[in-house]
Amino acid sequence: MRKPIIVGNWKMNKTIAEAVAFIRAVDPKVSESATWGVATPYLALEKSKAEAKNLIIAAENVHFKDSGAYTGEVSVEMLKEIGIEWVILGHSERRQYFGETDETVNAKTIQVLSHGLTPIVCVGETLDQFEAGITENVVREQTKAAFKDVHASCMERVVIAYEPVWAIGTGKTATNEIAQNVCAMIRDQVSQMFGQEVADKVRIQYGGSVKPEGLKALLEQPDIDGALVGGASLKEDSYVAMVENLG
Ligand code: 13P
Repeated sequence: MRKPIIVGNWKMNKTIAEAVAFIRAVDPKVSESATWGVATPYLALEKSKAEAKNLIIAAENVHFKDSGAYTGEVSVEMLKEIGIEWVILGHSERRQYFGETDETVNAKTIQVLSHGLTPIVCVGETLDQFEAGITENVVREQTKAAFKDVHASCMERVVIAYEPVWAIGTGKTATNEIAQNVCAMIRDQVSQMFGQEVADKVRIQYGGSVKPEGLKALLEQPDIDGALVGGASLKEDSYVAMVENLG
């Protein structure tokens, strides 16, 4: 019922030329089995979008205001002008290094949805929180905060990415069982807020040291509808290996 969605998050990697070369090589190889995409640095978005026929191209962040005195920021309107329809919001690296909070993630989610774009909203606990056994509380609160005041009719198209911070770039993947349990809990939280019908439509990704060979088994979990992939999305052969693994 829910089409899988696999998005590479390139973070601060790839020049425009490198992005274009990647998309030329990979775009013809992605299958109908899933929605496939990459999130690129701002500068590479326009040419990546022009090059991509199959891959969706996402921004990695956006500001919550329409315009104004916000040096260094990019607005939704600017993304729309170059045809960008997808945005990652609230990635843990933005929360950790750039002062992103539950409140700004919420403001950005509302801004993105009200302009017709689709957010991929990231939630996830830190290692300390995981070890303290408070994952459920942390992730439920992040989910509640991110979608506060969002209209149920917009909610159906939202993608949520569960990314345990301790699994990002560390090589430590959450077991499929842990990932499934937390993704089910996120869906339950969405159901509490927006009803089961909406919750059944929301796609939930897992992210954190995803490798091509583990993708299929991950997506066999009932509440995991995709992956947000860092390192393994950067090399063409590794991305194509994900496509092949999914079949
Ligand atoms: P890695 O796949 O490199 O662990 O990164 C995950 C991530 O942060 C995707 O957004």
